[in-house]
Amino acid sequence: MFSSRLSFADTTNALSKAKAKRLAAGQPLLDLSDSNPANAGFAWSATDLGPLLRRDGIQRQDPNPLGLASARTAISDYYSSRGARVPVDQLFLTASTSEAYSWIFKLLCNPGDEVLVPAPSYPLLEVIAALEGVTLRPYQLVQLAGEWVIDAATLSVNRQTRAILCINPSNPTGAFVGRRDRDVLRGFALKHGLAIVCDEVFLDYPAEGVASPGTWAGEANVMTFVLSGLSKVALAPQLKLGWIVVAGPASSTLEACRRLEHIADAFLSVNTPAQLALPDLLRRAEPLRALVRTRVAQGEVALRAWATSTASGCTVPPRQAGWTAILTLPPGVHEDRFLMNALSEGVWAHPGYFYGMPATVPSVVLSLLTPPDTLSAGLQGLERALKRT
Ligand SMILES: Cc1ncc(COP(=O)(O)O)c(C=O)c1O
Repeated sequence: MFSSRLSFADTTNALSKAKAKRLAAGQPLLDLSDSNPANAGFAWSATDLGPLLRRDGIQRQDPNPLGLASARTAISDYYSSRGARVPVDQLFLTASTSEAYSWIFKLLCNPGDEVLVPAPSYPLLEVIAALEGVTLRPYQLVQLAGEWVIDAATLSVNRQTRAILCINPSNPTGAFVGRRDRDVLRGFALKHGLAIVCDEVFLDYPAEGVASPGTWAGEANVMTFVLSGLSKVALAPQLKLGWIVVAGPASSTLEACRRLEHIADAFLSVNTPAQLALPDLLRRAEPLRALVRTRVAQGEVALRAWATSTASGCTVPPRQAGWTAILTLPPGVHEDRFLMNALSEGVWAHPGYFYGMPATVPSVVLSLLTPPDTLSAGLQGLERALKRT
């Protein structure tokens, strides 16, 4: 009865099962993977948010499938202040960045077509691609002298490859797409007639002292779709508002916008209150983002101090941005066994393979939004688990 798009739903992982069992039994769990900003104490107060969501205008729906002009103008201003000119008619509002991905896959791919994706990368991509009938073909990111870069030898296409995806900066590696990799991606896309899809949800979270190479939203030479949204940019995932910037050569941009408009019109999925609130949210988000950057920096310091002081054999690779950290485990440690032991110590973290980290380098991925007390207690639990593994 059911489509094979959901075949991924038939596989349950032993770790997730053990976690569900622990929670069902009412046992406590320190979650070191939680990246919901509200759970980490970063949320708009009801006093600030309430009036923004009770605006005149919520009684009607604007017929423009691209989204309200006032919201798109505010997003265009957001990019101007980051050095890119984005015309408002090249901006499409969506219900989230995840939905933006699904629209781009619909726009570019027939069922069975392929999209190149970095490995490691964000695990939800596999689910979204499967739901759109799209196959992901990984290309490898490797660490060279402490920096994550594209291993260009792993970029390959077949006749069904339509696009190449990048995450700037990446979740989980925290690496920006640097100048050299931009040239690699542009050159490869041009050579094979591919579009570039660039996820920039973490663009505003560079680590202290790291210069961001900036957005792809001003790209002029290659058909490019930049995705982002309020969940990270304004720490408001509950408002369900993302966007797509269409950039590139004039003729393909025009055609892409014409087609995207049909997709947007079919769903009209963006709620009006969030669109009306967006200009104020973008204008006022920076202080909240600054608090998040501080929390992330403190978390990274605590994690590095723990890794060096415990003689655990764990290391923390350098990171440039974002909210996540990779903890590299000592060679030979089995990720699942370690995380099962961590679970019995009451600590939950994600295995590196969940993000496509290489199996040869065992690792776990942690959220640096984790409140300091939880992180500290969680790391003590990881230490005990490591001793037992
Ligand atoms: C790299 C990346 N892209 C996209 C998303 C999803 O964003 P949204 O909440 O707007 O769907 C996430 C969520 O964590 C993410 O890590």
